[in-house]
Amino acid sequence: MDFQFKPLITERDHIGVVFCDSKNRLLGYAKKLDQISKKHISTAISNDTSFQRRKSKTFDYAIIHTPANLKLSKVYVFRLSDYSKFSVRDFQILGGHLYSLISFYQEDKVGIYFDGIVSKNISALNSSSEMMLGSLLASYKFDKYKTVNKKEKKPLKIKIYSSSYLRIEKNYPNVVAIAEGVTMTRNLVTEPPNFMTPPEIAKNAASLETYGVEVKILGEKEMTKLGMGSLLSVGRGSEHESKLAIMKWTGHKNKKKKPIAFIGKGVSFDTGGVSLKPANGMQEMKYDMGGSGVVVGLMKTLALRKAKVNAIGVVGLVENHIGNMATRPSDVVTSYSGQTIEVLNTDAEGRLVLADALWYTQEQYKPEFMVNLATLTGAIVVALGNEYAGLFSNNDKLSKQLEESGKIEDEKLWRFPLHSNFDKMINSPIADMQNIGTGHPGSITAAQFLQRFVNKTPWAHLDIAGTTWTKTLLPTSPKGSTAFGVKLLNRFVNKYYEGK
Ligand code: BES
Ligand code: ZN
Ligand code: ZN
Repeated sequence: MDFQFKPLITERDHIGVVFCDSKNRLLGYAKKLDQISKKHISTAISNDTSFQRRKSKTFDYAIIHTPANLKLSKVYVFRLSDYSKFSVRDFQILGGHLYSLISFYQEDKVGIYFDGIVSKNISALNSSSEMMLGSLLASYKFDKYKTVNKKEKKPLKIKIYSSSYLRIEKNYPNVVAIAEGVTMTRNLVTEPPNFMTPPEIAKNAASLETYGVEVKILGEKEMTKLGMGSLLSVGRGSEHESKLAIMKWTGHKNKKKKPIAFIGKGVSFDTGGVSLKPANGMQEMKYDMGGSGVVVGLMKTLALRKAKVNAIGVVGLVENHIGNMATRPSDVVTSYSGQTIEVLNTDAEGRLVLADALWYTQEQYKPEFMVNLATLTGAIVVALGNEYAGLFSNNDKLSKQLEESGKIEDEKLWRFPLHSNFDKMINSPIADMQNIGTGHPGSITAAQFLQRFVNKTPWAHLDIAGTTWTKTLLPTSPKGSTAFGVKLLNRFVNKYYEGK
């Protein structure tokens, strides 16, 4: 799918998309098209029954066939509710629905007359960009492993007609950068775990070198030398080598400026290890590398749009499998930080991976802050379902910035507490700590565990176990991998850290 940009002219297309307000009054250039068609369009929509109800609170639409005097076989009129109050997300959703409508009817040549829709909250340039982003994200599909019933649709070409088409065109690569980052994340997460192993995820991270990202990959030998006994303990039962991939994007004019850092849990498959998970639902654990998928996708977006920021992405890549070398419940391991951990449950492995990845990032890069993402606990799904991701942080400012960015992108965060009383729940009788808590608040004790591997660096942990994967179709995400976090963090970087 691709967009092209044109001034407001009347051209030959199969479908023309125009907009009207809640009182059925055509907006902008649509009035001109209506004139040419001798009021065919306005007459057709004067009756409310022309509009088909859609499951969106912000719009419905009418379809008009062969309007008089126009070189169009159909006109879609989108009736927008109070568009002057439209948000970023409203435009993304509009784009998402537009795509699904167009693809449902298998339309190919489509022209959108994007004119006269003025929101108080967002510029005309940004509103068209967000709409296009919504369409691109909704158009994601993954049929690589299908050999039959592969739907080979003609690639969609959509024209955007606008008086500011040149500016929209100039900004389009930024839109594509986000869509490409999200697509990369979704591909990594959707790939089956027999293909998307730790070395394979590392290879994908390394592929970002094409875009100017410096990439370093540590294997088991290097990590053993460094003493990363915590991360390494997780991969011991797997035939696939554990890896740590480090991606470095230097986009700030001051190349020496402290970087910001993103760290991801990359468990390519989580069987639970010796503390084996039940068979029912275990297949979902292919998305236990979702955090690392987001970090790789985000780095791709930042590099593609040449973000004016210095950013580090670190992903801890392991497979948590059973095997004769696998870690046993009650084994004690020594982390890279020097702290010892009694592994009481091998299924609480994400925190073991992040412990060493966080410490490494902090030691090596002295970042301004660290944000880690992880499908860390089932308990966060109990608390927040699939609507919000959990946010845990030692820093109020960082939390607010993340929450704010999440609200804009509809990748919402809900902050949970950290407290020394919770921290006591992970003390071990024989080591510095144990990897599961003694009490009920499983997501909090997991976060307390991570905090033991963060010194004074501002830090936030996003528990995305409930939001990485969707079992229902969303306005800008098909079923499956959502890439929750890429848009949020891209907005966060752009809004608060770029060029500063
Ligand atoms: N990867 C899981 C968490 C998870 C659950 C992610 C559901 C996505 C959906 C994690 O490694 C895990 O197994 N956590 C355990 C921790 C427990 C043993 C303390 C859990 O949440 O049950
Ligand atoms: Zn687990
Ligand atoms: Zn896990």
